[in-house]
Amino acid sequence: MAAEPARGQGWSRAQRALHWWNAGFVLAAFAIAWVMASVPLAELLLKFILFQVHKTLGILAFLVVLARLLLRARRGRPEEDVAVPAWQITLAGWAHRALYALLIVTPVLGYLTASLAPLRIPTLFLGVIPLPALTGPNQAWFGIVFALHRALAIALIVLAVGHAAAAIRHHLLGRAVLVRMWRG
Ligand code: HEM
Ligand code: HEM
Repeated sequence: MAAEPARGQGWSRAQRALHWWNAGFVLAAFAIAWVMASVPLAELLLKFILFQVHKTLGILAFLVVLARLLLRARRGRPEEDVAVPAWQITLAGWAHRALYALLIVTPVLGYLTASLAPLRIPTLFLGVIPLPALTGPNQAWFGIVFALHRALAIALIVLAVGHAAAAIRHHLLGRAVLVRMWRG
């Protein structure tokens, strides 16, 4: 088994694992959001289950990003590959900041959306743990917060796709950016 890289030398095993879990939870929450919305009310049980899966995946993504930020604060991140041009390093830095911001704000707005919904559907984390609503139902605020949740979720995915494309491009140019996030 490969030794853990020293601080600043590479991503730790935990940082790598959390990155991929984070991506998986976010992409799955996004995909299920469209399915759950399109299921007709006549199939109430299926709709209910999909809502719970969506909310659970979103909360898991939120918990994972908190763990990532904690680890990053403690352990830092590796030095940039010297082959990457300075402007791309700056751009990536801003893209990563924006990703972290969206990874926090989107699930928080999702939780608020669920709390404000006029038709109160319980939030059962992992399908069994009931979580409290933060507010009472409110049609007007629901409309605003839901629209924001949805718009920021789309922005998050668009940015993540651009980010993944950049990682693949670095890889094709022979830079170790993707490999060190994948295998260390
Ligand atoms: C990063 C995580 C998340 C992403 C990417 C995401 C994405 C989305 C998207 C795209 C929609 C719109 C679906 C549509 O209009 O057809 C949606 C709806 C919704 N989301 Fe999320 N979401 C996330 C986290 C959460 C969390 C943590 C919760 C609550 C615990 C939540 C609760 C909701 C609710 C209740 C709706 C539907 C509101 C309605 O139609 O009545 N979301 N989400
Ligand atoms: C929803 C999906 C994704 C999200 C939210 C996401 C988020 C992030 C964030 C915030 C960072 C910055 C880490 C830091 O500096 O602390 C990062 C790094 C990274 N991500 Fe992603 N990512 C996603 C998907 C992907 C995919 C699909 C790939 C590959 C195809 C990828 C490849 C990488 C690589 C290689 C790094 C390290 C970049 C470096 O060393 O500077 N990510 N990701």
